[in-house]
Amino acid sequence: MKNKIIDLIDETIEELDKEIISGILEIPPKEDMGDFAFPCFQLAKIFRKAPNMIAEEIAGKIEVTKDLSKVAAMGPYVNFYVNKEIYVKEVLRKIGKNYGSSKIGEGKTICIDYSSPNVAKNFHVGHLRTTIIGNSLYHIFDKLGYHVERINHLGDWGTQFGKLIVAYKKWGSKEAVEEKGIPELLELYVKFHKEAEKDDSLNDQAREWFVKMEQGDEEALSIWKWFKDISLVEYKRIYNILNLGFDHYTGESFYRDKTGAIVDELTKKGLLEESQGAMIVNLDDYDMAPCLITKKDGSSIYATRDLAAIFYRKENYHFDKCIYVTGLEQKLHFAQVFKVVELMGYEWAKEQLIHVPYGLVSLEGGKLSTRSGNIVYAEDILKESVSKIKEIIEQKNPDLENKDDVARKVGIGAIIFNDLYNQRIKDVTFTWEKIHSFDGETGPYVQYTYARAASVLRKTGITEVGEIDASLITDETSVALLKEIDRFPEVVKTAAERLEPSVVSRYVMAVAQAFNRFYHENQCKVEDENLMKARVKLVIIAKQVIRDGLDLLGIQCPEQM
Ligand code: ARG
Repeated sequence: MKNKIIDLIDETIEELDKEIISGILEIPPKEDMGDFAFPCFQLAKIFRKAPNMIAEEIAGKIEVTKDLSKVAAMGPYVNFYVNKEIYVKEVLRKIGKNYGSSKIGEGKTICIDYSSPNVAKNFHVGHLRTTIIGNSLYHIFDKLGYHVERINHLGDWGTQFGKLIVAYKKWGSKEAVEEKGIPELLELYVKFHKEAEKDDSLNDQAREWFVKMEQGDEEALSIWKWFKDISLVEYKRIYNILNLGFDHYTGESFYRDKTGAIVDELTKKGLLEESQGAMIVNLDDYDMAPCLITKKDGSSIYATRDLAAIFYRKENYHFDKCIYVTGLEQKLHFAQVFKVVELMGYEWAKEQLIHVPYGLVSLEGGKLSTRSGNIVYAEDILKESVSKIKEIIEQKNPDLENKDDVARKVGIGAIIFNDLYNQRIKDVTFTWEKIHSFDGETGPYVQYTYARAASVLRKTGITEVGEIDASLITDETSVALLKEIDRFPEVVKTAAERLEPSVVSRYVMAVAQAFNRFYHENQCKVEDENLMKARVKLVIIAKQVIRDGLDLLGIQCPEQM
């Protein structure tokens, strides 16, 4: 219907193309203003006339087809009133099992590099955010038919492991590491830095151990591998709680034998320069600090391994896009690395390598639960959210079945939803009361709406409805709900284009709100069987779209709450 209206406007105004019209066309806030409204402000400049007059003229010229009941100017707007019955039928016809999916990504591959915590360090709230955003982008691209490679680029190589080995050998114990895991490794790391301030020779020892690692020394590598395995157990526990996974755990260490080729190619192409003993690529011409490639002692660094990773992924996955989800603070790093690839002569770097930054999330007042010192563990936050939801359930609905499972889905859903509800670049603070509220703009609200739809279906005992009489659901709230449902395929595409899960979370919220308004106006369990069927049909598809929308965010929904 929207496209039909766009066509009608397009036929009337030659000066605007369809894409622009589509961008301007609005859904008016009130029913008496029609179903779609076309504001004429932008046309005032082109036609050198007042928007009101332009609206009058357009309304007069448009031919009212059978799809419309009326076209009228109202101030600076042209309002379109659609033939409700035709519209309802049209939306219903479009909705099948794969509603919202598309094939636009078929044959294309997207690499998403996300989560990527640093081994032996805590998985903090920042890592939680990249994990949640990356996972949502994966679902969004998957829905559009892309092949996605989910890559966890673990921070599992670098001089810090030399330090850790020294600290472990001096002050650590096998039992403590095995028992406490990452917190113990972190403590050893902190202790190393404290002691190294007093005794600089510790730094030399650390460097020696890292050199040993790079040379393949068995003892060095076996300790390193052990630290890595221990860390992975903890990370995978978090991924399990979040119900997500990866196709590859190829961390920085995976590229340690692949950086040499990069250095060679850079040298051959005349891009390397020496600077105080280190090798760099000068990026003065692009107003960027130089990209460091090798250190004084010849060892590679974070950027070198990222360069190696890009070529490895290009060769093995043949990506059309490679997307990196990290905090905003890595903006320069990625700009430098991408520029180096471009300077090496690979034009695709410009379009295909994309950094997707995000802002900070923190608990209002800054007090997040901690395990040691000020270090915040994502896992503690997730657990706290689940246990708080469990308390709410115990108070409000103690007889609920599968309380633990529901608490997990809702507690985790609340965190994910909050993380994805604002544009990713914005900093967000939250309070438990806010994100756990069942009537705010929250995950629990949407999940509760979903459970409410499920309960309506249980009460009516209907699970599937065939053909319905469309004229029975042409009332205001039913049509408003259908209009939201109608937008789903477009929303998924926009979210992918903008690499922005908030487009989906905002949408799911709008569907849930429209559903609740419909639900308050329309009783579903009624005598008239045809009417009941028509309304239940609407409940079924609204429920499906809410579930599929939450799926795109990585949120699970319980059938009962
Ligand atoms: N390990 C890094 C960190 O925790 C993130 C890695 C992002 N990915 C990449 N290819 N550099 O900050």
